[in-house]
Amino acid sequence: ALPVVLDVDTGVDDACAILLAALHPALDLRAVTCVGGNAPVDAVVTNTLTVLDAAERQDVPVARGAELPLLEDPVDARHVHGQDGMGDLDWVKSTRDPDSRNAVELLRDVLLEAAATGDRGRKVTLIPLAPLTNIALLLRTYPEVAEGIREVVFMGGAAADGNATASAEFNVFHDPEAAAIVLDACADLGIAVTMYGLDVFYRPRVTRASIEPLLAAGKGDAADLAAQLIAFQCKRFGDSSATIGDAGAVCAVIEPAGVRRENLPVRVELAGTWSRGRTIVDRRDWSGDLTHDPHGRARSTIDVCLDVDAQRYASLWF
Ligand code: BDR
Ligand code: CA
Repeated sequence: ALPVVLDVDTGVDDACAILLAALHPALDLRAVTCVGGNAPVDAVVTNTLTVLDAAERQDVPVARGAELPLLEDPVDARHVHGQDGMGDLDWVKSTRDPDSRNAVELLRDVLLEAAATGDRGRKVTLIPLAPLTNIALLLRTYPEVAEGIREVVFMGGAAADGNATASAEFNVFHDPEAAAIVLDACADLGIAVTMYGLDVFYRPRVTRASIEPLLAAGKGDAADLAAQLIAFQCKRFGDSSATIGDAGAVCAVIEPAGVRRENLPVRVELAGTWSRGRTIVDRRDWSGDLTHDPHGRARSTIDVCLDVDAQRYASLWF
């Protein structure tokens, strides 16, 4: 199975993603690290442990990471994800403690262990589904972890419209400096990056009707939790279906052929009156002004997901 690590801000759809990564036989979930985003980091830790309990994956280490973005005040998304960050479900919360290491230290240990094997098959796919604060701190503090990373597949950004603002996607908007650092560091360290952003994010959807039997069974297991997360979103948005959200990025790791990607220059807008946190994706086939910084240093071109086989990913998750 493919070794993976998730970095999350659980988060209703992060929970959907954790369930998939914890239980799909093609993946070997090595760790989950937590960051403030949808909810404050302590709530994220509790939610993440709760999801892994439901999946009976208490063996997966969970670590607490950054509480705040690098520069600005946090803007959480509890208006979308509920007061507890995970749908305010009638579900017993985990009382387990997280790993004693900080997220950055846990990530370092897991990635350096993978690097030490010298086996490409043991390298880890890093899947950030949250503001990139932990990952920026990791790559700046321990750049040697690059040897243990197979690729980064992150949920964030958009070539077209945003959601937190008209221009910017939530994860990048929450900590634009961190996102910029991660793209720069990956370019410098030779780490391949895929952006699973808003151009595809909302499209794989599960219907309320399809989860009805799972809700009725009420088994208190992973499938029950998954169904309740979908039901919460349907109710919250008054819709007959809900996106699997962040879980789509995990699908893109399990079945990469389900997305159409283009390798494009991407930069993060750090200023801007209305556009701070926007990912500027250059789809022109001339110019090249985004491929180098003012000092001539090569900057990131990354794989941007521009289309998705939505039915395929919805079925895979279900
Ligand atoms: C992203 O922001 C969060 O609200 C979701 O969990 C997802 O990671 C979507 O913009
Ligand atoms: Ca998330």
